[in-house]
Amino acid sequence: HKPIYILAIESSCDDTSAAVLMNDKVLSNVVATQAIHEEYGGVVPELASRAHQQNIVPVVDQAIARANIDKKQLSAIAFTRGPGLMGSLLVGTSFAKSLSLGLDIPLIEVNHMKAHILAHFIADEKMTSPKFPFLALTISGGHTQVVQVNDYFDMKIIGQTLDDAVGEAFDKSAKILGLPYPGGPLIDKHAANGNPHKFEFPIPKVKDLNFSFSGLKTNILYFIQRNTKDNPNFINENLEDICASIQYTIIEILMRKLKKAVKQTGIKEVAIGGGVSANSGIRKALTDAQEKYGWKTYIPQFQYCTDNAAMIGIVGYHKFKNEIFSKQDITAQARYVI
Ligand code: KG4
Ligand code: ZN
Repeated sequence: HKPIYILAIESSCDDTSAAVLMNDKVLSNVVATQAIHEEYGGVVPELASRAHQQNIVPVVDQAIARANIDKKQLSAIAFTRGPGLMGSLLVGTSFAKSLSLGLDIPLIEVNHMKAHILAHFIADEKMTSPKFPFLALTISGGHTQVVQVNDYFDMKIIGQTLDDAVGEAFDKSAKILGLPYPGGPLIDKHAANGNPHKFEFPIPKVKDLNFSFSGLKTNILYFIQRNTKDNPNFINENLEDICASIQYTIIEILMRKLKKAVKQTGIKEVAIGGGVSANSGIRKALTDAQEKYGWKTYIPQFQYCTDNAAMIGIVGYHKFKNEIFSKQDITAQARYVI
């Protein structure tokens, strides 16, 4: 069998990424993170698309060079069609379309959230792939979903957030604490040495398998306002314990719903995906669940948790095998449900 080479492009938010896969193996995975947003405390769409325009050519060139292949060997181009920021998506979409036209190879559109899930099928000796059907908890800056995955292309959302995404909950809490954007990884870092039971934040009561995180953010804001009134140094003196307590609450919310989802579906294969699955607390909770609840759990390698093109490439590979191609008139889609 001739190997399949996929060039994948991801530009849905603030990371410009390109990857080359040979079948299900990653030959290269280049990510250019945009530092520009840090000073604004969040992603500025206009700046993001401009940075993508600057980054995309060097990032793609680097991905091909590192893969040590010639452009002419490529079998197809896969790209993120959505969901994401329209201006950002447009850069990757139009680049992929023109490259597929220029090289005269098929074009494959990929749903970003599906890719976070199918990242588990990247061939990597440090990862094993879940067996169908499995449950996927996708947690990122824009999404929080529980998905029942019956097959590569047969997925059903069985629960989701009614307001903020879990990544937003991390980032907004961090902002209240005066930490720079994106604050999720910083909360994780400070939480490592803190006492998760020092402060208590309520777990919201939400129906079915759905989530809500906006109340938590408000609770944290009031909690900080209340305590800094008497002691302006309250945050500094308690940062590790505050972060540990916030992280504990968020993980408790996620794990309670996962337990409910397992009970409801009878599926004990559980995988996580998306940027927040880089969080050490959720990784530990999922690992512990194997022994505690008898689940089989799957945690991606760090480089496949946050936004990356390798996960777009693995979807591209499976679509290529099934000859699921896109036409040249395909457009980016900011809201794109899996
Ligand atoms: O999937 P992703 O890279 O981009 C989106 O599609 O949104 O996720 C980014 C989100 C951000 O909210 C970021 O703060 C969060 O993932 N994140 C973390 C950690 N690493 C990234 N949150 C908590 N702990 C982490 N270690
Ligand atoms: Zn993402």
